[in-house]
Amino acid sequence: MASPKLGFGLLLSLVLIINLRKSDCAFNPTDNYLINCGSLIDTDVDGRVFVADNGSSWTLTAPKDAVANLTNSKSVSSLTGSSLYLDARVFTESSSYSFPIKQQGRHFIRLYFFPFDNQQFKLTTAQFSVSTQDNTLLSNFKPQPDSSTAFKEFSANINHDNLILSFIPGNNSVAFVNALEVISVPNNLILDSAKNVNSQQNYQGLSNQVLETVYRLNMGGPNLSPGDDDLWRTWGTDGGFLLDPDLAKNVSYTGAISYIDGVTSPEIAPRSVYSTATELASQSSTLSARFNVTWKLNVDNGFSYLVRMHFCDIVSKALNNLYFKAYLNSLSASNYVDLSSLSANALHTAVFLDFIVEVPSGSSNLAVSIGPSDTDGVVPDGILNGLEVMKMSSSGPGAVIDPVKKKGKIGAIVGAVLGILALLILAAVVFCCIRRRKKAKKQQSKTWLPFSINGGTSQSLASRTSNITTATSGKNGNLGYRFSFVVLQEATNNFDENWVIGVGGFGKVYKGTLRDETKVAVKRGNPKSQQGLNEFHTEIELLSRLRHRHLVSLIGYCDERNEMILVYEYMEKGTLKSHLYGSDLPNLNWEQRLEICIGSARGLHYLHTGSAKAIIHRDVKSANILLDENLMAKVADFGLSKTGPELDQTHVSTAVKGSFGYLDPEYFRRQQLTEKSDVYSFGVVLLEVLCARPVIDPTLPREMVNLAEWGMKWQKRGDLGQIIDARIAGTIKPDSLRKFAETVEKCLADFGVERPTMGDVLWNLEYALQLQEAESPDSEVNSINRIVELSSQVQNMNNPGSVAEGGMVNNSLNDLSDVSMSRVFSQLIKSEGR
Ligand SMILES: *[C@@H]1O[C@H](CO)[C@@H](O)[C@H](O)[C@H]1NC(C)=O
Ligand SMILES: *[C@@H]1O[C@H](CO)[C@@H](O)[C@H](O)[C@H]1NC(C)=O
Repeated sequence: MASPKLGFGLLLSLVLIINLRKSDCAFNPTDNYLINCGSLIDTDVDGRVFVADNGSSWTLTAPKDAVANLTNSKSVSSLTGSSLYLDARVFTESSSYSFPIKQQGRHFIRLYFFPFDNQQFKLTTAQFSVSTQDNTLLSNFKPQPDSSTAFKEFSANINHDNLILSFIPGNNSVAFVNALEVISVPNNLILDSAKNVNSQQNYQGLSNQVLETVYRLNMGGPNLSPGDDDLWRTWGTDGGFLLDPDLAKNVSYTGAISYIDGVTSPEIAPRSVYSTATELASQSSTLSARFNVTWKLNVDNGFSYLVRMHFCDIVSKALNNLYFKAYLNSLSASNYVDLSSLSANALHTAVFLDFIVEVPSGSSNLAVSIGPSDTDGVVPDGILNGLEVMKMSSSGPGAVIDPVKKKGKIGAIVGAVLGILALLILAAVVFCCIRRRKKAKKQQSKTWLPFSINGGTSQSLASRTSNITTATSGKNGNLGYRFSFVVLQEATNNFDENWVIGVGGFGKVYKGTLRDETKVAVKRGNPKSQQGLNEFHTEIELLSRLRHRHLVSLIGYCDERNEMILVYEYMEKGTLKSHLYGSDLPNLNWEQRLEICIGSARGLHYLHTGSAKAIIHRDVKSANILLDENLMAKVADFGLSKTGPELDQTHVSTAVKGSFGYLDPEYFRRQQLTEKSDVYSFGVVLLEVLCARPVIDPTLPREMVNLAEWGMKWQKRGDLGQIIDARIAGTIKPDSLRKFAETVEKCLADFGVERPTMGDVLWNLEYALQLQEAESPDSEVNSINRIVELSSQVQNMNNPGSVAEGGMVNNSLNDLSDVSMSRVFSQLIKSEGR
């Protein structure tokens, strides 16, 4: 039963490995026609041979005497182009090349023109059209006699056995071409959908579009010729298009550039494009220095354009430092370009974003802008590594509107309506939050966002480090250990930027080593007011009471010189997220994954029930679950908020910073967080653990982008097994998977009251592990015994009997816990007002 699945998993990994290998070799197109039109000899250009126009593997169909070869009598030494422009094929009547197509799909069609005259033909006044059997590529095209050469590149999906390329002379004119290319390209080069910035809706159906390349720029770097690009593309420089060059600067990176398997590759764009960028010039730390960098491009009006922005974070020293906005013609393209999440948490990694923009008739400008984020605490910055602008043509002669396309349209409309709804809700929430935030700011300016902590297991550590720390006493007796600033300076190599292992709204997290070699994680808040410092103390005092082996331990703190620094135990193996995807870390098996889920569930359960006041984590995600050297899970970053406004503030930034896929949908409705919000987020983490993919992946087809939605779609069909991580798919026992999937589904219930408590979740996960470890059907009795045992271990569990049946909690009890939570909050708000 398990072996075919395992086999499939192996096959899949094998396919992945092969793909990986292939992307390292240069691309080798299946269809590859390069023709030196009108010439009787082959020509070598940049290592490629354009063959003589004698129709060996293709055919030219033309009326008798309608075709002539023409050789340029003018000196060509002055031409910037190449030997391809020496000869031309001239057509006095409609004529067609027919190329057999071995690999249906998208192809580049490149046409080279250079108009010259002789006694017989005047190419300088020629006017003609070029079309495929499906689309018109050029309509009444007139090569400009004053411009030396014209080069046109199109990409079109060819779903026939032949490509028929026709040259149709206009009235009293001839048609001609100097050289042409027909090349198959990888299928993932052009995706089917992209966001339309005019409607802010998702556009589907790009596969049916013929695209004409109008700009292809290598930002901040040199021109790239076809020989520098796996698909023989030409990249220009961007400097000439900058609206205000003083606002921009070149940046480049000489290290290795990575690609994301299956998403980017050298065929999307070469490394040399990603290794240079144009960056906002002034990164002055004064937040008032805000401006956009804009490239102004001339385009034909009345058309839509597919705009591809290539990005690669070559400027940041650490992840999560670079956030900015992108605009097309002053319309928001992306309000929050977050390269760390786009690249699945890796620097120097190639990513791209596609947008569609409509250029109205009456305007012939396309303005592409990068601008600073207005999120609090984000340094104004922004980069662009590469830009492609492709003109979309509407369907030409012979195009078929098939039913599939219509269905796609309905899907797009439904998707768009849902998308708008989501945007409106988000906008409303953000608006409310901003208003509340402003109000709060008037009352007091508080910049310190309290976060985490507990004293916990630092006992032994403390004695080891006692020579360099001062044990606090009296009022601060609970605060753990007070480090002197100098000690932490030394431990972190003077807060070396290269030692940053994380960044959050509060400041940065540095890796550090104390004098006795103890590794620590040092969180440094931005020092501000004395007021903040008091709260910092209260916070540590409160949190120091939380001690649990599944919560990351606080070792100490430093409040010298108005600093607000917290020192935690260092978690050797990093985040759970990094073990699931986007890294080369070894695969975790199902039992390990379950143990990690169970450990984190214990930590959260303790937060919710372990002290008199329930504590809501608010930002449960795989990046906040850390693993020690034995892969034991500990929950980190369980920030506490004292006031409503601040709660919202951290929330908004949380949401925007990419934890969006984890956010409780009920939060949108009620704008109130409960423990059940953590349960929802934890459900998303469980799915992430099962499927090993990002919770939001904008590069996937629409219905797959949001993992929670996608996972629930399959679970509702009873077939969640279809989308699980191929590396473990065959190893999960069906019973274990069923239990796990049910648990996920309950956690992701729309309403908080329908979701289980963390205690129930923990119990169900333990059960899933039991089912996985059960030797044979005989041991079922044993596992039931074990389960009874377990249920008594879980603290504060409401009703084990009802859990076993439905995993639901008693509603009245649950409501009670909500009441007690809101009481906690109002109490906190009150004390804040004093
Ligand atoms: C940026 O780089 C391009 C290409 O290397 C170069 O032409 C341009 O002058 C540079 N601009 C600046 C401001 O250095
Ligand atoms: C950048 O451009 C957009 C669109 O024109 C505009 O709304 C925004 O205010 C600009 N940002 C800055 C900092 O100038």
